[in-house]
Amino acid sequence: MKTYHIAAIPGDGIGKEVVPAAIRVLHAAAERHGGIRFEFTAFPWSCDYYLDQGKMMPDNGLEILKDYEAIFLGAVGNPRLVPDHVSLWGLLLKIRRGFEQVLNIRPAKYFKGLQSPLRDPKDFDFIVVRENSEGEYSEVGGRIHRGEDEIAIQNAIFTRKGTERAMRYAFELAQKRVRRLTSATKSNGIFHTMPFWDEVFSQVKAGYPDVAVNSMHIDALSAFLVMKPETFDVIVASNLFGDILTDIGGAIMGSIGIAPSANINLDGKYPSMFEPVHGSAPDIAGKGIANPIGQIWTAKMMLDHFGETEMGETIMDAIEWTIEKGIKTPDIGGTATTEEVTEAVCRRILQT
Ligand code: NAI
Ligand code: MG
Repeated sequence: MKTYHIAAIPGDGIGKEVVPAAIRVLHAAAERHGGIRFEFTAFPWSCDYYLDQGKMMPDNGLEILKDYEAIFLGAVGNPRLVPDHVSLWGLLLKIRRGFEQVLNIRPAKYFKGLQSPLRDPKDFDFIVVRENSEGEYSEVGGRIHRGEDEIAIQNAIFTRKGTERAMRYAFELAQKRVRRLTSATKSNGIFHTMPFWDEVFSQVKAGYPDVAVNSMHIDALSAFLVMKPETFDVIVASNLFGDILTDIGGAIMGSIGIAPSANINLDGKYPSMFEPVHGSAPDIAGKGIANPIGQIWTAKMMLDHFGETEMGETIMDAIEWTIEKGIKTPDIGGTATTEEVTEAVCRRILQT
């Protein structure tokens, strides 16, 4: 019997509702497949913890988390009582940076029974691999001559190491899917870093001759992602481009409540962290109507990361079945509660 040891951080607001829901689903999947169990250790690190202790997590928080096989996080934020930059930097970013989670992975997919803002959505299913540690989001630069003659300089940092590892991950992911990869570039407008990005892409590509590739400028790529998302499979992008593309992905799916994400530590030195895209949703917290699908799909991504892909497929099938049957929370046009959706997903898992 293989046991996975997972640190659970439900966090704030609806995180406390959807994390237990997804844990229930994981236990159901383990029961259905056999041979595997999950052991969760829950940590109360959150804005409540901050109001009590004056910090978002203990000083040795990373030390405590370091030996778990993964971190399963809900959402963090209680903007009425704790400023967002305090909660974000005190917990989420500390974990992402401290554990070198250099990639952010976000899938987007068409669901039968879910209203997409697209008029006639085809059956799209793509994943964005976003470089998450450097690129356009750097602290290098500055401002001088405040006032009328002011100058602001923002430097983008692209290292060969960081660029290559994101691309390799994307190629390997493409090999496990339909062997199609798109590189997001802008080498016609950005003079140094994007031609470099293209150059590294063509070098890395040589190691994966079985993957069909193309490079697209970010502006056209964004438009195509709206016009014909079904033509994409894996997309690799820099930090800024990936940030934008993943929001388009979430938008065309139909609700932020279903979108999952993974923060990946590549060398396995530290745990990776799995969290839904949405926040703590203070407006609906405590009402029992939060959509648990984002967190449940996030659990599926964690299973894929563990190499338990068959179990991941079982969960994905149950998500699709539940949505198609119309067992949906109010954010996606239904009347079901968090509990009812979770129950339906578990029932489907145990019955098939
Ligand atoms: P949000 O994602 O919490 O909510 C935006 C809207 O979507 C709200 O109307 C909410 O009710 C709805 N929504 C989100 N998830 C849902 C779900 N699972 N089911 C049904 N409806 C859902 O974003 P917002 O309001 O901007 O931020 C609230 C707090 O969450 C802030 O403190 C923010 O900093 C934090 N936050 C944390 C994130 C994280 O932990 N990774 C990510 C985004 C925001
Ligand atoms: Mg964003």
